[in-house]
Amino acid sequence: MAKIVAALAAAHDPLITAAEDVANPKQRSRIMHAFSELRSVLEASKPDVLVVFGTDHMNTFFLDNMPAFCIGIGPECMGPNENWLKIPAGPVPIDQSLARYLLEGLMEKGFDLSFAQEMPLDHAFMVPIHLLTPRRDLPIVPIFTNCAAPPLPTAKRCYQIGMALGELIGLYNSEVRVALLGTGGLSHWVGTPETGKINEPFDRRVLDLFCRGDGETLAAYTDPMIEEAGNGAHEIRNWITLLGAVRGKRGRVLAYEPIAPWITGVGLGLLDVEA
Ligand SMILES: [Fe+2]
Repeated sequence: MAKIVAALAAAHDPLITAAEDVANPKQRSRIMHAFSELRSVLEASKPDVLVVFGTDHMNTFFLDNMPAFCIGIGPECMGPNENWLKIPAGPVPIDQSLARYLLEGLMEKGFDLSFAQEMPLDHAFMVPIHLLTPRRDLPIVPIFTNCAAPPLPTAKRCYQIGMALGELIGLYNSEVRVALLGTGGLSHWVGTPETGKINEPFDRRVLDLFCRGDGETLAAYTDPMIEEAGNGAHEIRNWITLLGAVRGKRGRVLAYEPIAPWITGVGLGLLDVEA
């Protein structure tokens, strides 16, 4: 049976690659060190596939057709579809067998996901993929959650999908080793007068709950509660999905830095799947 061998969480702030020099060098160095540490953990777990919970910023999906959730099931994803990230554009392979299995399994469990044979990826996926698997030789299963265009799926729904995904992976009739990655957040405001503001107390509360493996408390967060940390904070949904997938596992923070020039409370952490 398949096994979850790693559960990682990382910011996907595009300025990490696009404008690395504007950050305070000490803060930047702590974040990049944490990415290296996360990469080492990922490599040591010897994964066959990386299931990525990410979002999009009106680059792949737009208001003409905005899914709540969408899973990429084609042979590969192209990314990034933004030319300013200083990340080379190219394909990332998809584990199509696992992607199809998860899609069908979630449908059977009552989660009506959209699916896409072609799903280009923006920085939400590509910043962490670039920093954690720069050779792009690890197949992914990309799972998009709408975190940007309200009405959004609730935090509770994301937690439920995470739990269902965790169960399905455990029942997958294959010996594959599955790593999980939730991306985004933490506090930030995008395209509003508050852009550049950071809600550090909110971020530290979220990280504390993450470390305790308390996805249930986070799943009860309402949109107004999340918006105290900005419209970009809705991306904590991807961390909540991750917590659901390895329910109850505790974790630790690898780095947290409130970085105003990067307009984000930047956090990285991991959950101990072996505990
Ligand atoms: Fe984002």
